[in-house]
Amino acid sequence: MELNFLNSMFCIFAFVVFFLFVINSLITKLFTPNRRKIPLPPGSLGWPYIGETFQLYSQNPNVFFASKQKRFGSIFKTHILGCPCVMISSPEAAKFVLSRAHLFKPTFPVSKERMLGKEAIFFHQGDYHAKLRKLVLRAFMPEAIRSIVPDIESIAKDSLKSCQGRLINTFQEMKTFTFNVALLSIFGKDEILYREDLKRCYYILEKGYNSMPINLPGTLFHKSMKVRKELAQILAKIISTRRQRMQLEEEDHKDLLGSFMGDKEGLTDQQIADNVIGVIFAARDTTASVLTWIVKYLGENPSVLQAVTAEQEAIIRSKEEEEEEEEEEKVLSWADTKKMPLTCRVIQETLRVASILSFTFREAVEDVEYQGQ
Ligand code: HEM
Repeated sequence: MELNFLNSMFCIFAFVVFFLFVINSLITKLFTPNRRKIPLPPGSLGWPYIGETFQLYSQNPNVFFASKQKRFGSIFKTHILGCPCVMISSPEAAKFVLSRAHLFKPTFPVSKERMLGKEAIFFHQGDYHAKLRKLVLRAFMPEAIRSIVPDIESIAKDSLKSCQGRLINTFQEMKTFTFNVALLSIFGKDEILYREDLKRCYYILEKGYNSMPINLPGTLFHKSMKVRKELAQILAKIISTRRQRMQLEEEDHKDLLGSFMGDKEGLTDQQIADNVIGVIFAARDTTASVLTWIVKYLGENPSVLQAVTAEQEAIIRSKEEEEEEEEEEKVLSWADTKKMPLTCRVIQETLRVASILSFTFREAVEDVEYQGQ
């Protein structure tokens, strides 16, 4: 399932692309004599510094986008998390931005960048970016994940067991599930020792992702930055333990940490730590969100639910038969995941219909004119 998510990740078209404009330089340009004045898109920059951050994060973001779109059209200016920015929401404009990597560099608001760490893949281009991309992909190729399918099954079974007899919030449960799977794919079995500490710190950290970058005691940002340091220390311990093990053992570790720590790669400990936190950030809520949409869509389409259930039950039955024949317990295998064409189609269709990542960020490296704005 991780593979499907990874594959889809690279082809997902984010409906709304949210890019940061170098508004200061644009304003300078507008007021410099003898230059053609390009008007800024319509919209409001809100309050000084705070901008319209609270309007975006205190309500359903879709409501924010829809009301702005209705008022100003598909391109409008705003001010979010301390950054003046232009929001675009048409497929044409998104294509314009995403196909001009030389004009728009990857970025995130300050709060996210400080929490993930400046060495994380999201803030880079060129050779370093290409190398990280290769290392991340390597850890999620079939070759690397086929051996952890039984462990993922076991995490799923534990999650289901823990839900029995209580009212649950599906998205929260999916987040716990995807966090456990993420730790397994990143650290392999090494994660067990540190799971609770990693979880405690990460859960505080994520609360600050969308906070204003104000580092004063009591603010979400301050709390998150404090646990970010703790996370770095835990990761340093995990990296050091792994390094010792790698010297003693001959076998390569196929998890993400093993991929980052491969001899030839030459990543520093900080680069490894920032990218481990970055991958948890990229993988967790996105995957949990898809899983939640799948539950919703299956609930709304009983005939599809029935067909998916039949497909899954056929696999369970074949396992039970094997168990009887060979008299040993049979767990889910990589080969079994290939016997789920309908389930895979449901995942693909959910990715198509649900807008998992509703916006993302780019920074214009120079003034850009699009449709006269
Ligand atoms: C279905 C779930 C997922 C969705 C919808 C999704 C979506 C996306 C999107 C749209 C981007 C591009 C963002 C941008 O360019 O601004 C992205 C980047 C990324 N995602 Fe995912 N993703 C998912 C799952 C995962 C998983 C499981 C991983 C774990 C490896 C992951 C790792 C990454 C990484 C490392 C990047 C940065 C890639 C780069 O800069 O080249 N994602 N994802």
